[in-house]
Parts: sequence; structure tokens; C-alpha cells
Amino acid sequence: MFESKSGILAIGGVGFFVFAYIVMGALPWTIYKDQPEKSILEVASEGIPHEFVDLAERFPAQFKEHFGEVSYESFAAALELGRDIYVGEACWHCHSQFIRPVSREDIRWGPIAHAREYNNELQRPVLFGTRRVGPDLSREAGRRSNDWHIAHFYEPTNVVAASVMPAYPWFFDEADVPNKRGMAIIAYVQWLGSWLDEYPYYEEAPKAPKLDDDASSTEVADHGHDREQEEI
Ligand code: HEC
Repeated sequence: MFESKSGILAIGGVGFFVFAYIVMGALPWTIYKDQPEKSILEVASEGIPHEFVDLAERFPAQFKEHFGEVSYESFAAALELGRDIYVGEACWHCHSQFIRPVSREDIRWGPIAHAREYNNELQRPVLFGTRRVGPDLSREAGRRSNDWHIAHFYEPTNVVAASVMPAYPWFFDEADVPNKRGMAIIAYVQWLGSWLDEYPYYEEAPKAPKLDDDASSTEVADHGHDREQEEI
């Protein structure tokens, strides 16, 4: 078998295919199959970024209609819808969500991606992305204000003159206020990377307040104001 051409082809073609399947598919699956995965609500309960509270304050009537009150549940619902929109609108076609440990990407975008960041339900399907027409978004949280995102989704060239990102007018209602989809996608991009201690590492702003069990949402909102005032 080893002397014949077909024998070598059989080992090369079929043999290495089977080997790759075992090493890259079957083996990791058996190692990680019992790894617990956080639910969306668990992820949301780790902390509500200030920007979500800001949406509720800025557009109280619309926010109430779409999501009710600021709570872990409403934040989880917004994140899930935001993730679905991100998938449905093919944002992943132009944006990655993975900081590679090469080319000093951390200088541009922040900490290198770690496996544990992806071990939750919101990361299914995994949205690493393969193209970067636009920048990586996995450290986007807090980097821009909600206002900036609203102007940007409405018409990207309003804020970045040479942008090739499409406009998303269907994220807005007749009064040009972000609709449910608009608020959800903003909540989602403002969440990306908010789990890092360094967030927001690029601004000299205090860490975004986190909602813990004995803090009411009003307290969170007040912290939000503090942060805004400090920024001015
Ligand atoms: C055709 C490619 C393309 C698609 C599709 C696309 N974007 Fe972009 N995006 C870009 C480019 C290019 C930029 C950089 C220029 C700019 O800021 O507009 C950008 C910038 C951004 C930024 C600003 C990043 C920063 O802080 O500078 C965000 C946030 C963003 N995109 C989110 C999205 C979301 C969410 C979607 C899907 C609803 C999406 N993009 C779809 C190309 C795209």
C-alpha cells in the first residue's frame, strides 16, 4: 500500500481528513461539552451599562413601550434582539468581534480576546467575523455616546464623511427616534466589551455603574449623570 500512488493518496487525502476531524472537531467537543454556558439573563445580570439607562431617560415613552422599565430582564431582551439584528443585518460581514494576539491589535482596540468572553448564549452563533471593512466591535462599549450611534446608524456619513457603512433608516420611527430595533442594536453595541475591567479604557471616565441587587435603577441613573458631568 505504501509503495503505490493510490496508497499515498489514500493516506494523504482520507487519512489527514480523518485526523483533522478528530483533532479539531471531536477532541475539543469531548473536552468542552460539559462546560457551563451563561444564559442571556445571567450575562445581563452582570451589569447594565450606563448607555442602556441613558436610552430609557432620553426616550422615556418609547423605551417604556418597547422594553418597559430598566431591569435585568429588559436589558436581556434588548441584548437578544440586538444580537439577532446584528446577525440579520449582516453587520458581521464588515465587522469582526475578535482581537487577535498578532499585529499588536491590542494597541488599536484593547485587550486581546479571551475564550471565556465567548462562553455565553449571546455569542451563539459566534460572530468573530472574517472581514474588517469597518473596525472590530468587540470593545465598542462606551467608546461612543448613544447620540453618536443614533446619528451614525441614521446616516453614517453624517459623522464619518468617508464611511462606506450603509444607513439603517429602518432603525427609526416616523419622528426619527430610534425604534425598538434601533434601541436594541445600540444596547448591543454598547454592551460589547462592557464586561472588561478596562472598560472604558480609552476614556478617562470612571467605570460604568453596575446595577447590583440592592441598587435601584434610579440610583444607576444618578450615577450616569455623574459620569456625564465629569466628562464635560
Ligand atoms: C458594508 C460594510 C458595513 C456594514 C454592513 C456595517 N458596517 Fe459598521 N462600519 C463600517 C465601516 C467602514 C465603518 C467605519 C466608518 C464609520 O464609522 O462609519 C463602520 C463603523 C461602525 C461603527 C463605529 C465604530 C467606531 O467606534 O468607530 C459601529 C458601532 C458599527 N459600524 C456598527 C455596525 C452595525 C451594528 C452594523 C449592522 C447593523 C454595521 N456596522 C454594518 C462598515 C460596515
